[in-house]
Amino acid sequence: MVDSTGSRVADVLVRGEVIVSVEPSTRTGTRAGTGTGPSGAPAGAMVLDAGGCVVAPGLVDLHAHLREPGAEEAETIESGSRAAALGGYTAVVAMPNTEPCTDSAAVVRHVLHLAKGACCDVHPAGAITVGRQGRALAPMAEMVALGVRIFTDDGAGVQDAALMRRALEYASDLGAIIADHCEEASLAGLGCMNEGDLSSLLGLPGRPAVSEEVMVLRDLALARLTGARLHLLHLSTAGAVAAVRLAKAAGTNVTAEATPHHLALTEDALATYDTVFKVNPPLRSAADVAALRQGLCDGTIDAVATDHAPHPPEAKQVAFCDAAPGMIGLETSLAVVLGALVGADGPGLGDGEPGMTIERVLALMSWQPARIAGLSGAHGGPLVPGAPANLCVIDPARSWTVVPAALASHSRNTPFAGLALRGKVRHTVLAGEPVVIAEEAQR
Ligand code: DOR
Repeated sequence: MVDSTGSRVADVLVRGEVIVSVEPSTRTGTRAGTGTGPSGAPAGAMVLDAGGCVVAPGLVDLHAHLREPGAEEAETIESGSRAAALGGYTAVVAMPNTEPCTDSAAVVRHVLHLAKGACCDVHPAGAITVGRQGRALAPMAEMVALGVRIFTDDGAGVQDAALMRRALEYASDLGAIIADHCEEASLAGLGCMNEGDLSSLLGLPGRPAVSEEVMVLRDLALARLTGARLHLLHLSTAGAVAAVRLAKAAGTNVTAEATPHHLALTEDALATYDTVFKVNPPLRSAADVAALRQGLCDGTIDAVATDHAPHPPEAKQVAFCDAAPGMIGLETSLAVVLGALVGADGPGLGDGEPGMTIERVLALMSWQPARIAGLSGAHGGPLVPGAPANLCVIDPARSWTVVPAALASHSRNTPFAGLALRGKVRHTVLAGEPVVIAEEAQR
């Protein structure tokens, strides 16, 4: 068992929705035969075999596009939450760039209604501005009253600095967080990949690193001015990581995330013009990837978030510049991050980072994002008697190959198709109920 308090060998007994006991294990940690449980299990208890596995608090994703309402051909809350549970997540924050946009109490209520019975807890984020148009603030207070804690115009940055300042001030008063999509639109222009030698060579318009860095620097200054809590979404450049490092050292109230794809892939993937690799912010240089990994190792970046962005084939099977940006990630994130940061057999993922362990990866994917999202009471552990039973059971040694058609997501746009990965979620338990058993979704 691994949680924020450390690791130990233990058996976990769950009754109803809560953990009732965590006792030193009667086993040695080697894989037991299916169905055989710890000798101390009460008669009639369902036993989930966790031999050879890590039992951890469920993962928490700060950044998933579940597309409902409005783009159900790409994903629904049902299919997206199933993908999340298979990936080990017990909670996800659903991005508001839906149709209609999640910018009012009415839409938040609708999303919460759709999320009843989902395979994981779904927490809608609200838009910062009405319709994500960047012109007028959305009614944040009425969304906060329904439990919304995170506001973002993700998909686009708030271009008007004065409006962003007001958003930070209002969010601060409401106890909410502004989650910032950092792209300055006039610099990003119509760019559809990282700006550099490769974009020139391929003849594709570039999206420069500075388009991210200008907004990161602006909003760090605004966070400092207002004292508000700022969270920076999907950082992708070395300059942005350096700016956050300095701001944290100066006491700015900021957290940041990076995505698995920005940790595992570089712009070189675009050499084939395959639109599956088109994403915003774009895949960057090897030096940027190294800086992101370093930022995760030294605590500059607090969380790994998927930016799971499903798109139907017709949105991707078009000319590169016309293709929708985004890639799915809920079912592959843990294995990709283990491969990139801890080092595994996954080809192309490198040897990992010195000092990185599965424990530290779980901090980045479970309890640290749970804290950022204000979900610590329910998600992210620690696993102690009385705590809600939101758990995942990870087999770190399990090798598997990503087969897009076998994924639970309605969409197939994974950049990791055909890749051999190591590490898979065996079981996921949501509020005491196993929603994934032996790698199979139960709902
Ligand atoms: O690539 C992206 N896709 N980046 C975003 O910020 C939005 C997302 C989407 O909604 O498809």
